Amino acid sequence: MPFPPSFIDEVVARNPIEDVVGQYVNLKRSGANLFGLCPFHGEKTPSFSVAPDKGIYYCFGCHKGGGVINFQMEIEGLSYGDAVRALAKRAGLEVPEDPQFQSRYKQQERLWALSKEAARYFHSKLYAQEGTEGLSYAQKRGMPKSTLTKFGIGFAPNSWNGLVDAMKAKGYTDQELKDAGLVSEKNGRIYDRFRNRLMFPIIDVRGNVIGFGGRVMDNSTPKYLNSPETIIFNKRKNLFALNLAKKSKLGYLILVEGYMDAVALHQYGFDCAVASLGTSLTQEHAVLLSRYTEQVVLIYDGDEAGQNATRRAIPMLEAAGIQVKVLRMHDAKDPDEYLKKFGADKFKILLEEASNRVEYQLGAIARKYHLNDDEERIQFLREAADLVASLPSPVQREIYGGRAAETAKVTPEAMKLEVDRARKRREKREKKQEEQKMLSPAQNLQPKSRTIRYEDIRSAMAEEVILANVFKQPSLLDQVGSLTAAQFSCPLLGRIFRQQQDRYKQGLEVSASVLDGLESDEMAHLAGILQRNQGPVNEQAFADCVRTVLESDRARNTVTEQDLLALRDKMKEKKGMKL
Ligand code: GTP
Ligand code: MN
Repeated sequence: MPFPPSFIDEVVARNPIEDVVGQYVNLKRSGANLFGLCPFHGEKTPSFSVAPDKGIYYCFGCHKGGGVINFQMEIEGLSYGDAVRALAKRAGLEVPEDPQFQSRYKQQERLWALSKEAARYFHSKLYAQEGTEGLSYAQKRGMPKSTLTKFGIGFAPNSWNGLVDAMKAKGYTDQELKDAGLVSEKNGRIYDRFRNRLMFPIIDVRGNVIGFGGRVMDNSTPKYLNSPETIIFNKRKNLFALNLAKKSKLGYLILVEGYMDAVALHQYGFDCAVASLGTSLTQEHAVLLSRYTEQVVLIYDGDEAGQNATRRAIPMLEAAGIQVKVLRMHDAKDPDEYLKKFGADKFKILLEEASNRVEYQLGAIARKYHLNDDEERIQFLREAADLVASLPSPVQREIYGGRAAETAKVTPEAMKLEVDRARKRREKREKKQEEQKMLSPAQNLQPKSRTIRYEDIRSAMAEEVILANVFKQPSLLDQVGSLTAAQFSCPLLGRIFRQQQDRYKQGLEVSASVLDGLESDEMAHLAGILQRNQGPVNEQAFADCVRTVLESDRARNTVTEQDLLALRDKMKEKKGMKL
């Protein structure tokens, strides 16, 4: 439903681009333009520009750009119409809506309101007759009333329809309860999804309740049940307690794994703690964090899973321009347990001693080896030298080279030699990679990430075009005929295609940002595909690509003996003709 052009003009005029962008990016003027760190890609030096006179923004790094409406769409992941509505609201303009037009934005607002009502319901149950068990569990976990109030923590009674009935009495429909992820369905009947659990509402940075995490009160599984992905809840884009932590005066943010950890940290005065929502950290989380801070202290569990998660999180945070420190838990499995055992003062000392990520990584390498054993000491030195050689500044290399030398009890000079050798190895490796690229043009088509390879370049190129077009126009999914994810030559692209199809069938938004279960390099790879295919939808090219994928799949799978015989005959024929 198009808006009147005059209305769009008014919306744009009342929302100066520098003000709107300025809500998300710290901008500094330079001549006619303003510059800042791109909110769309992680970077350390500003390549993101805003031209107030032209009313546009453009990133010289990732090549995103457009007007104020595009920016709103891009940064909040809104459709065109919803971006216009959001900007209109910001400027206090009434939106001329067609009454028949059920907008996604309105639907979102209903679901936010419903989720808030649900949070109120759960919170009130904590103090009701049916909630005594919940309240005593919360107390057992050391949460005073002030904490329960601050986080809006609640209790889902052990009932199949408590929430359903309460919300229906407030005028919400079955469909809305399903859309909000608050109920499950069986044989056409809906029932409360969360039962007999302590409820943590998840609130976005704008203060909307978007989902819940519910904890059991015994050892049964799953320990936590989270809201499913909905049009208002995206785990990859949101962090628990960021709505509170963004107001902290501490100047840094603490990132932990558990809801309970974040809650305990706030309770003990570290009001800058946030937790991921039971998923590993994404590049989107990192960019989100970088809007609020330049420094993050990572505190993941001391177990191997936690340490692996730390290793993966560091480069993502750094890519978003964040300085990373790592705190390794000792004598407790997580911050919650630590605080309760040893108190805030001791924790503060730990925090002050948190090492920067290079120190942390050096420590992690050292822990792998027995440094009393000469052979292992040499291995340590080699690995440490690789790490030190990867540091960009000579000062850093000298400092951390010195540290590593001390750890291994060798002279700084010997360490320096080792680092120099490692640097030569790196340079050689990089040069070789460059050369290989020059030698084979097909190599250029291979994904930049080392973890993703195209086995069938021709098919993969077609697969890229299909995905990119579907993101632009999901209804193209009605035109793929018999094509299924299994026929994609690249499993990653097939997986994305399947998600697109599933979401489309469920009537959910199909966009790159809502995809689930992609690692950061996979997400980056997808972003690259989308950036390279930015033009308008080309239905003809789309149909050609579908055909290519089908054909390639057939060719890969149906090379039978007969085919080979036929091929041999053909070759013979050709030869015969030539002779
Ligand atoms: P407590 O055991 O109560 O102290 O919880 P915690 O907050 O310390 O959680 P834990 O360290 O066990 O797990 C970290 C986070 O992973 C949780 O906060 C959840 O977000 C998530 N998580 C843990 N268990 C499950 C589960 O069974 N299912 C899902 N979906 N997520 C889980
Ligand atoms: Mn815990």
